[in-house]
Amino acid sequence: MTTPTPAGRPGIVVLVSGSGTNLQALLDAPDLGCDVVAVGADRDGIEGLRRAERAGIPTFVCRVGDHPSRADWDLALAAELAGYRPAVVVSAGFMKILGPAVLGGHRVVNTHPALLPSFPGAHAVRDALAHGVRVTGCTCHWVDAGVDTGPIIDQRAVRVEEGDTEESLHERIKVLERDMLVDVVRALAAGWKAEPDAG
Ligand code: GAR
Repeated sequence: MTTPTPAGRPGIVVLVSGSGTNLQALLDAPDLGCDVVAVGADRDGIEGLRRAERAGIPTFVCRVGDHPSRADWDLALAAELAGYRPAVVVSAGFMKILGPAVLGGHRVVNTHPALLPSFPGAHAVRDALAHGVRVTGCTCHWVDAGVDTGPIIDQRAVRVEEGDTEESLHERIKVLERDMLVDVVRALAAGWKAEPDAG
């Protein structure tokens, strides 16, 4: 199933599209119980990839535009991921909908900046503000074929303050989101250790 890392822990692959602060939280977390064995992205030149490079972690870029169709991109990404034999794939700010090849071959955890099932999609913070909610937050969930519809693993709540902008609210959400993601991955990894055939 999964290949243990040289340290004897299960490996995870993290997918990013932007600044990668959630990735950084995983890299910095003590006692995570697993190792980030690779970081993948759908675009070049992002801070998330630079964070991985600074940490000495292999990176790869799989761009939709480099493939004849979305289905081909999905297959290419699935093959890239399979090479690392991750226990799970963590989508941490990866701004693409994953396809059936990736989801058929891997268990994928996503982190989302809203309290699902409210405000799925790419503009969750903007949509929550526009709706006028007084409380929003973040959600960690298993990824299924829908858009942010999979089973919820954990959530954290954040109050919307007077004068919040999309940026200010998102930054406060991300503070809790990083802790949530680390807690979720740590709890999952503790379970893998207990499974004799998971390592
Ligand atoms: C996070 O808030 C994550 O939930 C969000 O992008 C941010 C990435 O931050 N993802 C989505 O909106 C996906 N729909 P980071 O690059 O600093 O980790």
